[in-house]
Amino acid sequence: MNQSFLKDVDAGLSAEEKTLSSKYFYDEIGDQLFVQIMHMPEYYLTNAEFEIFSKQTDKIISSLGIKEGSYFELIELGAGDGTKTKELLKRLIANNFDFSYNPVDISEFALAGLKKDLQNEMPNLKVETQQGDYFKVLAALGKTEHPKVVLFLGSNLGNLTDDLAASFLEKLCDTLSYGDKLFLGVDQIKSADIVIPAYQDAQGITGKFNLNLLTRINKELGGNFDEDKFYHKAYYTQEEGIAKSYIISKEKQEVNIAALNKSFSFATEEKIHVEISRKYNDKIIEKILAGTNMEVTEKLTDEKEYFADYVISKK
Ligand code: AVJ
Repeated sequence: MNQSFLKDVDAGLSAEEKTLSSKYFYDEIGDQLFVQIMHMPEYYLTNAEFEIFSKQTDKIISSLGIKEGSYFELIELGAGDGTKTKELLKRLIANNFDFSYNPVDISEFALAGLKKDLQNEMPNLKVETQQGDYFKVLAALGKTEHPKVVLFLGSNLGNLTDDLAASFLEKLCDTLSYGDKLFLGVDQIKSADIVIPAYQDAQGITGKFNLNLLTRINKELGGNFDEDKFYHKAYYTQEEGIAKSYIISKEKQEVNIAALNKSFSFATEEKIHVEISRKYNDKIIEKILAGTNMEVTEKLTDEKEYFADYVISKK
């Protein structure tokens, strides 16, 4: 049994304001639902960043300042299915760059799928995968002396509060050397009429993605949640710039979790906070980087300026 999942569920459901972490969305079903999310018309983030990767590939490569002929490590935090990164990998291979690709992901299913894909599509690419949550894998990253480019795409940073993001980037910075790069893709603050549908789509895929967390608790921890007795709702204001997702109880009910030998009661309309998806602007990024020894050296955006990839260099 996954002990940290058990502990986190216990603490989260015992709290005055109930909470569960979005990092647990990604079991086998959650991964599949997230792939569906990335293909939804409302989820503009993936399309916008894919546009940057497909239309500005050479600009990405030049902004990374990689010296031709010198070996480097291309590390990707939260690689997922790698659709965007493949655009870059193909171009790097075509231009004879010497590098290894090291995708890191919390989901072993996503990593296994990605590795298989890459072996088929780019058989000469050196791939070394690593499973784990971002904080845990950081230590392993610093071990080699090679120049590094760290990709952190898809606004994955946005699941962290600004304080946690800052301390995460400080730790990441410590594993890097002078000239190494962080390529950070983040969603930009924009109006609610665009953001809300991305987190509450017409087909209800995001709802299923959120509620699957309850089913995961049932499967892995012996819970007896009834998904039909809960619904999902997203909130966002442009002033705050943070999309927030909740799972809400439709009625007064008790839920038992066998692995904890414990029951939890829910009032009608009681909320479980499950995710924040932070949206950014240049000022917020600079504030988050303030405690690190890194600076923004380039910014690439899609045509609509919905999304930005910041090139951040270690000083
Ligand atoms: C993968 C964290 C970037 O917050 O936009 C998508 C996850 N949640 N729809 C995001 C997510 C609901 C996504 N990230």
